[in-house]
Amino acid sequence: MCGIVGYIGNNNIKKQLLDGLKELEYRGYDSAGFSILKDGEIYSYKAVGKITNLAQKAKDFEIDGEALGIAHTRWATHGKPTEINAHPHFAEFSAVVHNGIIENYQSIKQKLQKEGIEFLSQTDTETIVKLFEYHLKNDSFEAFKQTINELHGAYAILLLTKKEPDTMFFAKMGSPLLIAKNDDEIFFASSDAPVIGKAKEVIYLEDGDYGYIKDKKIHLFRDNKEINLSWTTLPQNKEFAKKEGFRFFMEKEIYEQSSVLQETLMGRIDENGIYFEEIDKDFFEGIRDITICACGTSYHAGMVGSYLIQRNARIKTNVEIGSEFRYKNPILNKDTLFIVISQSGETADTLEALKMAKNAGLKTLAICNVDNSSIVRLANKTLLTRAGIEKGVASTKAFATQVMVLWLLANYLGNKNENNIIMQVSKVCKVNDKLHEKIKRLSKRYLHGHGFFFIGRDVFYPLALEGALKLKEISYLHAEGYPAGEMKHGPIALADPELYTIALLSKNLLFEKTKSNIEELSSRDSTILTISSQEIETTDDFIKINSTNHYMLEFYEMMVITQLLAMEISIRLGNDVDMPRNLAKSVTVE
Ligand code: F6R
Repeated sequence: MCGIVGYIGNNNIKKQLLDGLKELEYRGYDSAGFSILKDGEIYSYKAVGKITNLAQKAKDFEIDGEALGIAHTRWATHGKPTEINAHPHFAEFSAVVHNGIIENYQSIKQKLQKEGIEFLSQTDTETIVKLFEYHLKNDSFEAFKQTINELHGAYAILLLTKKEPDTMFFAKMGSPLLIAKNDDEIFFASSDAPVIGKAKEVIYLEDGDYGYIKDKKIHLFRDNKEINLSWTTLPQNKEFAKKEGFRFFMEKEIYEQSSVLQETLMGRIDENGIYFEEIDKDFFEGIRDITICACGTSYHAGMVGSYLIQRNARIKTNVEIGSEFRYKNPILNKDTLFIVISQSGETADTLEALKMAKNAGLKTLAICNVDNSSIVRLANKTLLTRAGIEKGVASTKAFATQVMVLWLLANYLGNKNENNIIMQVSKVCKVNDKLHEKIKRLSKRYLHGHGFFFIGRDVFYPLALEGALKLKEISYLHAEGYPAGEMKHGPIALADPELYTIALLSKNLLFEKTKSNIEELSSRDSTILTISSQEIETTDDFIKINSTNHYMLEFYEMMVITQLLAMEISIRLGNDVDMPRNLAKSVTVE
């Protein structure tokens, strides 16, 4: 995920910016850059990869005295992680850094291109600075206001222009940005971490805030009126700051799902269709069936994908576990599309399976979160999931975005339009405080016993598998996912009050069938927690989701609940939620 730093002062500005960026490294990035405005000149450096690469490139650049600087770490979403796509972005005499998504960037870009304005990068950010100069006649602040008024979407922006050598412009909408100060220095940052230890006081900007700093005087506008500055003391705990106030990275990542899913959709969907810039439609020509191959959570996403693709596109879709596929001497037909799914892009078993498919001449497609990873480099085509770095070992937002990409693909291949529903998912994934409180309270009843069954049908079956995996990974309690209809074929023998069943009961898919499966367990005295919009009498606990008219909206709401439940149980058991025992985030060995 991207990060922003800004600095105005005379205390070694290059170092201030690089130090700030280093504090944002934990958020993940694949390129970085900065611009410094001093005496009417802008000096800029960008580099792909680590901040040390940027520092190395700028090693001979020295600047003394009072200056203004903006800096950025970028996690590629629109366009590859190249130097050109790295921030800052430039127009003729201005530079900008930006976090967030400009949803209407394509229409702004087209308008400006018609006026003869040229673009260098593939990013939405470049449109901001080009639009600013397009509007700039005499008054820079007016041009800045006009620019932000035209932007739809989310942004935190810092902009410098040679036309105003002592001024930095800023704006915030839906993406975090703060101003912090010391006696004689002013800082900007997208989170607390870069300014802790450097500044004493802070203003967390609100959505819609904008303004400028000229000669070190801050002019902050809210509702189009300049307002008084109200500073608060900056907290001093860095580790806490990195988690943005959440107890664990996993919790932060669960809460982030709503916004990262918007990133996943950005530029890929409108009311009329689904678009994959990365792939020409003819890539799919001649495909008769699909094999999806992945491990762990990504495999569960693949299973959801197989239901969605078969249902919406009527293409036969087979799902394989990477480590099994490699050694089963698989039959590989050239008219099979081979899809690999991986958060890290480095999982050895998935990578080897991909090599086998590619060597056998199959078309290969990666669904991955990390651009330039081994899997992305090897596959013919890639759809990035755009979840941002995931620090919690137990995967959450990566899964949510993988499923989303697969759902888009299912509709794309089947020419189906569920776009109106897809666009509601981000809202559904917003964590509701009351619900989280309820899960926290409920979790105390589920700390012992001899195990958990998560049950569901159709796409709720892989969700049951994923819910069980989350729980076992971080609570170390035994948990299994089962198709609800399969219980009577053996597992029900385990049912008793100390066996906890988490039942995923959809109103929109196989409701009556799943309900009878729950009743079969209830009559054997299993302790049951049902997650559904429909309360049924025969269960012990109930978590109510919204009554919606599409099973995938139920799916996403239940997904958030199972993640929170696993986390709250783990916290009560005193485990390390982010770094569970015996597990690694990236499994690069067999
Ligand atoms: C579980 C989890 C793992 C990974 C698996 C594959 O929370 O994260 O099961 O899903 O190791 O990893 P990737 O997706 O990086 O290929």
